[in-house]
Amino acid sequence: MNKHEAAQLVTGGTSNWVKEEGEGGASVNIALCKYWGKRNEELNLPVTSSLSIGLPGLGAQTKVRPAARDAFFVNGTPMDSAAKAAARVFDFIRLFTREPVEVKTESTVPLAAGLASSASGFAALTKALNDGFGWNLSGRGLSILARLGSGSASRSVFDGFVRWQAGEREDGMDSFAEPLEAVWPDLRMGLLLLSDKAKPIGSREAMKRTVETSLLYRQWPARVKEDLAGLQEAVSRRDLTQLGRHAEQNALGMHATMLESWPPVMYWLPESVQAIHGVHALRESGVPVYFTMDAGPNVKLIFTAAHESAVRSAFPEVRIIAPFG
Ligand code: PMV
Repeated sequence: MNKHEAAQLVTGGTSNWVKEEGEGGASVNIALCKYWGKRNEELNLPVTSSLSIGLPGLGAQTKVRPAARDAFFVNGTPMDSAAKAAARVFDFIRLFTREPVEVKTESTVPLAAGLASSASGFAALTKALNDGFGWNLSGRGLSILARLGSGSASRSVFDGFVRWQAGEREDGMDSFAEPLEAVWPDLRMGLLLLSDKAKPIGSREAMKRTVETSLLYRQWPARVKEDLAGLQEAVSRRDLTQLGRHAEQNALGMHATMLESWPPVMYWLPESVQAIHGVHALRESGVPVYFTMDAGPNVKLIFTAAHESAVRSAFPEVRIIAPFG
C-alpha cells in the first residue's frame, strides 16, 4: 500500500470543499518514550509504540482554502514553494486533492526550539483539511492521516499524555495514537534552548541509519517495552521518580543507538552535555529533576511544580510549561 492509497482508505476518497475555509489547531508533543525507527518508511509506520505529552500553547493553528495556485504562509510570511517545508506540506495535500490550496499557519513554536514543529504542523493541517472537506473523521482517523505527514504528528492530534500504538498491519490502519485518561496538574516541563544551529542530519535519515547500522538498536524494542510499562504506571500513580527515570533512560538509550551507528549520529553539543551534568548535580542535591532529548541538541527538563524555583535558579534561561494548565 502506498501513501495515497492509505489516505484514500481513511477519507473515502472525497475531496470536495464543504466550506469556504477549513481550520484546525494542534500542539507540539515531547516523547517520554521515543519513536525511533520505521518498519515502513513510506507510511511512517514505527518499529515500536511511543508515549508523549503535549505542550499546550506551543503549536500551530492552520487555515486551508481552495485557491488559484498553491501558497503557504507561516505567521503571515509566504514560504518559497521550493523550500523543504512547503514541499512537504504540498506533497501531503496532494494525497487528498490535485486542486491548488492556500495554507495559512500561525505557529507559536519558536523555530529554533528543537521542538518538532512538524508534529503540530501536520496535525493542525490534517484537522484543517478534515474541516474543509467535511470528512468528519474520528481522532483515530485524524491520527492515521497526520502520521502520513510526519510520524510524531500522529500524537499531536491529542492533548495531554498520548500513546501511539505501533500496530502490526501492513496498511497501517492499526497504527494510530490515543490519549491516556490521566491528568497531572503539578507536572512541569522545562525547555532549555541551547543552540539554534541547523541540525547536522534530519531525524528521517538518522533513524534509517540507526536501523540499518546499529547493533545496539536490536535492544531498542526491549528498552521501549520496559519504559512504556513503567511510564504508564508512573502516570497513573503520578510518580515523578519513576516517570523521570524511564523518560531519561529512554532518551539516553535512543541516543546510544545513534552514537553506535555508522557514520555516527551525534546531536549533542558541549552545551547539551553541560546541561545533562547540571541536571544530575541538581538531582544529587535532592531536587527530583530529570531530562529528555530528541533529535537535536536541546534538553527538556521534567519535574513538578514544587521544584520550579530550584530548577529556575539552576537554569535561569529555562522556559517552564505546565502541560495540564
Ligand atoms: O516524526 P519525526 O520524523 O519528526 O521523528 C521524531 C523523532 C523523535 O522526536 C526523536 C522522537 C519522537 O518520538 O518524537
